Amino acid sequence: MAFAFLQNKKVVALSAVGTIAGLTMMLKDYMQGGRFKNPVMAEGKVVIITGIGKETAKELARRKAHVYMVCRDMEKCEQARTEIVLDSKNKYVYCRECDLSSFDSIRKFVDTFKHERDRLDILINNAGVMRCPRTLTKDGIEMQLGVNHMGHFLLTNLLLDTLKASAPSRIVVVSSLAHTRGEINITDLNSEKNYEPGRAYNQSKLANVLFTKELAKKLQGTGVTVNALHPGVVDTELTRHMGLFNSFFSGLIVKPILWPFFKSPVAGAQTTLYCALEPELEGVSGQYFSDCAPKEVADAAKNENVAKWLWAVSEKWTGLDQKPPNELRFYIDFETLDIKIIDEKGQDIFEKAYKEMGLVEDPGQEVQEDKKHH
Ligand SMILES: NC(=O)c1ccc[n+]([C@@H]2O[C@H](COP(=O)([O-])OP(=O)(O)OC[C@H]3O[C@@H](n4cnc5c(N)ncnc54)[C@H](OP(=O)(O)O)[C@@H]3O)[C@@H](O)[C@H]2O)c1
Repeated sequence: MAFAFLQNKKVVALSAVGTIAGLTMMLKDYMQGGRFKNPVMAEGKVVIITGIGKETAKELARRKAHVYMVCRDMEKCEQARTEIVLDSKNKYVYCRECDLSSFDSIRKFVDTFKHERDRLDILINNAGVMRCPRTLTKDGIEMQLGVNHMGHFLLTNLLLDTLKASAPSRIVVVSSLAHTRGEINITDLNSEKNYEPGRAYNQSKLANVLFTKELAKKLQGTGVTVNALHPGVVDTELTRHMGLFNSFFSGLIVKPILWPFFKSPVAGAQTTLYCALEPELEGVSGQYFSDCAPKEVADAAKNENVAKWLWAVSEKWTGLDQKPPNELRFYIDFETLDIKIIDEKGQDIFEKAYKEMGLVEDPGQEVQEDKKHH
């Protein structure tokens, strides 16, 4: 009898368990999604990543970038930094304090950063908060809209001059598939009349995509690109405010059931790395990616009127519509005693003056040559 072994219950049970385990592993493997396979290096590129974004920061450090992890919990950041430095043997990894729920803290960070560095090649807006109870940022904005959109809106705008001066440079906005369920509540953007945590998260992630599209238009011809992405459903601390994922019941039943469907943090970092580094994306802007490939956005994310409206409101709420006049920044290289003065448009005023006087043929050429070596 060929199938006699089926009468042995132990054998049947063991082979059923083996089959289920094998299928589960295959499903888990499939769910990890696209990988960024290009071994391109990022030697000397200056990168800011908000939230710790450990796996993205680690890979960038392995590729020899100078990585600034910008976050609010310095102890947690320092732990991640130590791990990254030991792993990558790259000592140019830094922790800098910035609470994205405080405009004051964002401005302080940008000031400090600009005194340290006169270039920024890649800005990764990664930090996020999801489905928290209704709380307000220091400036009175609903927390998810405040951190996920408004904080990053201010941060990005304050860094635009440095990004432009470092062009070609990139801005990467970590949004979410949740944007497809989002709606910008024009009559109650701050969820004052009605707050539903999921709806506020979806709105903030739609705001990320609308911001990306509007900014891409404003950045045309500057050499700075901006793209948004969905990282996948990743096993991180993002679900910390969701009871379903944090109860005893969840630990026992829900998490094991959902485990095959979650990406690992390494897999979750792939599309961010792709948008930050893929050479083929040079010049590509205003797009949305998932699994290292372009994806269509929801119709709500294509609404140019809403994007413009959101931009205007964001400028007002962040105080960006009140720009200080003619802000100049000074840099001194203490080794060579070179002095640089950068104007509010991110231009070196000496370089501009020499060019205007015809004393230098094309000062930008030297910079371009220099960039080729990065
Ligand atoms: N995980 C997913 O399945 C998934 C899916 C789609 C999109 N995303 C997006 O991916 C991004 C990264 O999330 P994640 O999954 O890595 O979640 P995470 O593990 O919770 O990381 C979020 C990071 O943001 C930081 N953050 C929160 N509020 C902040 C603030 N006020 N100031 C500065 N930093 C703050 C957190 O710092 P603390 O640790 O100090 O709180 C943390 O480092 C988010 O934008 C999220 O919306 C994630």
